[in-house]
Amino acid sequence: MNVSQAKPQAHHHDVLIIGSGAAGLGLALRLASHRRVAVLSKGPITEGNTFYAQGGVSAVLDDQDSLDAHVQDTLSAGAGLCVEEVVRHTVEQGPESIRWLTELGVPFTRETLADGRTQLHLTREGGHSHRRVVHAADATGKAIEDTLVGQARRSDNIDLFEQHIAVDLITTGKLGMPGPNRCVGAYVLDRANGVEIFQAPCVVLATGGASKVYLYSSNPDGATGDGIAMAWRAGCRVANMEFMQFHPTCLYHPKAKSFLISEAVRGEGGKLLLPDGTPFMHRFDPRGELAPRDIVARAIDHEMKRLGAEYVYLDITHKPAEFIRGHFPTIHEHCLSFGFDMTREPLPVVPAAHYTCGGIATDLRARTDLDGLYAIGETAYTGLHGANRMASNSLLECLVFARAAGEDILARGPLDNGTLVIPPWDESRVTDSDEEVVVSHNWDELRRFMWDYVGIVRTTKRLERARHRVDLLMTEIHEYYSNFRVTNDLLELRNLALVADIIIRCALSRQESRGLHYTLDYPEPDPKLDGMPTMVAPP
Ligand code: FAD
Ligand code: SIN
Repeated sequence: MNVSQAKPQAHHHDVLIIGSGAAGLGLALRLASHRRVAVLSKGPITEGNTFYAQGGVSAVLDDQDSLDAHVQDTLSAGAGLCVEEVVRHTVEQGPESIRWLTELGVPFTRETLADGRTQLHLTREGGHSHRRVVHAADATGKAIEDTLVGQARRSDNIDLFEQHIAVDLITTGKLGMPGPNRCVGAYVLDRANGVEIFQAPCVVLATGGASKVYLYSSNPDGATGDGIAMAWRAGCRVANMEFMQFHPTCLYHPKAKSFLISEAVRGEGGKLLLPDGTPFMHRFDPRGELAPRDIVARAIDHEMKRLGAEYVYLDITHKPAEFIRGHFPTIHEHCLSFGFDMTREPLPVVPAAHYTCGGIATDLRARTDLDGLYAIGETAYTGLHGANRMASNSLLECLVFARAAGEDILARGPLDNGTLVIPPWDESRVTDSDEEVVVSHNWDELRRFMWDYVGIVRTTKRLERARHRVDLLMTEIHEYYSNFRVTNDLLELRNLALVADIIIRCALSRQESRGLHYTLDYPEPDPKLDGMPTMVAPP
């Protein structure tokens, strides 16, 4: 029987925000005094990349630093593909973003000056020419997420829906209505109640990244690119998906699930060493350990392959134990639980998939190609990151574009979907699956071939192999999706396979090496492609 047909549910809001990380909650709080907002999260409200962010948020706050320097560092890390207007717009809003978070109550780390006054402590990360990373020790994301959730819970105008997984966007085009196509809501799987309708004249995708498309990733389980896949299925363009960022240093331990060791450890003096204790980064870049992330991850990958090593070391033992415990309490504790004391011994580390630089194409107001649909945060492509995101620019982007989307939504004035009638989700032709193993098998297979064939170093032949496999998987998943009732795992697999397909397409079309996209068949950048993002559109 069709549960949702028997008991259709429709939720009506002014704005539907899909995602409860820094981007989604940041926007909800900007809107809450003026609009009634629904915020969805597919698991517990705090679960998402934001919660796990360690290093911090970049912003120019030191007299010795300048907005121009932050712009130049971002452009340089982005390897010729950043949109300068977007970079400048974002960087200029850094100080205001930090002020806003501080006023909301985020407990950023402060330092005491010689005259007894205190100020925000600024740490350093790869690619930054100055100390400009504001942080809450080494658990900045948790401090931000907890504060935003606390504020959202206190607002009468924000309805939070946990364990609600958006399945697909609803558009007037799909409903067969005349006139220009616009987004009017989403079908959403309530884990407790079946598929429901969430209706709103403005819908915002704040669904985070897609790094779980790889076998080893620093991201939590939900980072499956749902927003990118939903936007694509609704007809939006997607850009630069070949630029998947690998973080150089995740703890190497079979049970650590790619636990991140923050770049701030290198920012505060940590050195990368080969298994025999020899430093090596100076051979790859004059900036050594603080070169941009693509360079450091590729150097580690190169040395591991050259030596047949399973990991390299990250060593900060030359710093006093008190300094290490003070700056990195979470990392120190976590490593101890796996038997490593970073105050006394170097940590074994490997690269892992970390950040999705590409995403849904948006403009400076966070609008997508579809009227009524916005995209913000890691799911969006704004032009800020180019071919490689600089550390700690992501949380900043979430906050800046949440604000931009908020301003644009308010400028539209009050909207409503009028008498729109949206048909309930049709489950009349599906049954419960008796073959869940197909989902788990395909999930594992996809992530493994993406790691092996579409990873840090690529070739056209490997990309073609991956494309062939993803084609087969997508056919199988489509058949499964048509026959069985939707579950969270099935929805995520369907989205991951589509995102993998887009990544491979983008990678095959970029016939050069630049930033995070490195292929042995075209090992050099092609100057003709300077400033040229990879834009792909659904057929
Ligand atoms: P997220 O915080 O990932 O939130 C996504 C939300 O979308 C979640 O609520 C999820 O439930 C929801 N969602 C997804 N799909 C659906 C669906 N289908 N239906 C309903 N809800 C859905 N960046 C920095 O700038 N500085 C750092 O120090 C830093 N450190 C990092 C450390 C780690 C370990 C990781 C993984 C990332 C780090 N990053 C850092 C990157 C940064 O954390 C993320 O890019 C940023 O937090 C993304 O925020 P977001 O709001 O876009 O998405
Ligand atoms: C880190 O702390 O190394 C992560 C920073 C980031 O991804 O921006």
